[in-house]
Amino acid sequence: MSNLTYRRAKADRLMGRNPLFYKLAEPVFFSRNFQKLRDIVHHDTNIADHVVSVAFHSFQIAHALGLRNHLRELVQGALLHDYFFYDWRSARPRSGKLHGFEHPKEALENARQDFGKLTPIEEDCISKHMFPLTPIPPIYAESLLVCLVDKIVALAELVAATRIHQG
Ligand SMILES: [Fe+2]
Ligand SMILES: [Fe+2]
Repeated sequence: MSNLTYRRAKADRLMGRNPLFYKLAEPVFFSRNFQKLRDIVHHDTNIADHVVSVAFHSFQIAHALGLRNHLRELVQGALLHDYFFYDWRSARPRSGKLHGFEHPKEALENARQDFGKLTPIEEDCISKHMFPLTPIPPIYAESLLVCLVDKIVALAELVAATRIHQG
């Protein structure tokens, strides 16, 4: 199995790991535009694998901590936190500004367009996930968790990519 095939399958493997996670993630995960994220490179993996990984680990931590009142919003906000459709290595957001600062805004616009009105927790998960690069911190436990888990997952993906390139 090639590395690309292996990495593409990661989102599907995580979807199958927990029935509750599957149920909460399903409406976003199987939407037409979300599936396009499988083909967009991100942290040397693809956006679909990355965001499912962030959503799954955030879900597991929230569940373990007893933070269970807003699990659907946590999962769906995490799935949509990088909901943009360009390769940031070669293209810029619609605003033409720098990717690092602007992609949360573009992800939020895209998410509203495809999924309608979002809840305040979902919006916070998306728009504040780049804190402290963007100055306003998340205000909900769920969005703070997504912000932290995103950084850990991104770091793990970069380390894994470095190992693949070295090996
Ligand atoms: Fe991001
Ligand atoms: Fe991310």
